[in-house]
Amino acid sequence: MPVPIIIDCDPGHDDALAIMLAAADPAVDLLAITTVAGNQTLEKTTLNARRVCTVAGITDVPIAAGCARPLLQPLAVAADVHGESGLDGPEFPEPTVGVVPEHAVELLHRIITEHPEPVTLVPTGPLTNIALLLTRYPDCAPRIREIVLMGGSTERGNRTPAAEFNIFTDPEAADIVFRAGVPVTMCGLNVTHQALATPEILARFEALGTELGHICAELLGFFASTYRTLWGMPHPPLHDPVAVARVIDPAIVGCADANVTVELHGTYTRGATVVDLHRYVDRPVNAQVAVTLDADLFWNRVLTAVTVLGERRGRGPVE
Ligand code: BDR
Ligand code: CA
Repeated sequence: MPVPIIIDCDPGHDDALAIMLAAADPAVDLLAITTVAGNQTLEKTTLNARRVCTVAGITDVPIAAGCARPLLQPLAVAADVHGESGLDGPEFPEPTVGVVPEHAVELLHRIITEHPEPVTLVPTGPLTNIALLLTRYPDCAPRIREIVLMGGSTERGNRTPAAEFNIFTDPEAADIVFRAGVPVTMCGLNVTHQALATPEILARFEALGTELGHICAELLGFFASTYRTLWGMPHPPLHDPVAVARVIDPAIVGCADANVTVELHGTYTRGATVVDLHRYVDRPVNAQVAVTLDADLFWNRVLTAVTVLGERRGRGPVE
């Protein structure tokens, strides 16, 4: 039976591929896509979710817009990484996929409450919507099978020396999620930096021979250019699909139990995830933390998903 999931995202180049993987892989059943402000404003991330679903032919998954800003601090977007649109690179047609007239938190609550099976949440942006859901509707926590998120790191950050972007953007929300008592799996930079979109990977997308494969190669090409400029990294890491891959096949992403605490007060470390893999302190285990990635299995799965969507969509130009 496919695992029922909802993606909560801020597309975002890597969020775009996470949506495609979740929509096409038979191991998961994508029930909804909810959007949050992060990589860009809520208006732009929601438009981008609609763009991605339009070009990928994902027409049967509701999209709902959520929170426009973090819980306590002002929004600081990542235009330096994802461009002014949040999804710079390809030319997108006018989206034909709409949004439902329901706030993301209400949609999440309704689906989680009504679905016959416990639902897995896969947040790939700041955790604002999820924190609000858990605070406003604590009754739905037992109906959440697991929260498998992209965020944090066991080591370095990418927004400050200590903090990763999704956690740094809304540390209070992340703190609520890690302390909610719901099973959490954290896929952080320490593994996502092994999911590198090399030129060989880009060539595999182009070789699919579909418009969608070409769009993915263009997305990754833009992402590569900002990673080169900002960090001098030759190949960009495809962070967000790693969290989806963990749900699809736990063999792709190996995890270890640990306590994860979000630093809220550090002068230089606000938004850092303090991951106690070696049990230095007696804080209880509250998360499974990703520590290994099988990159070949990962890319095969992502490419298969884009193949399926691209062929379903047809080889002609995307309208
Ligand atoms: C995370 O930050 C965003 O820019 C990406 O979409 C990803 O979710 C990586 O730190
Ligand atoms: Ca993201």
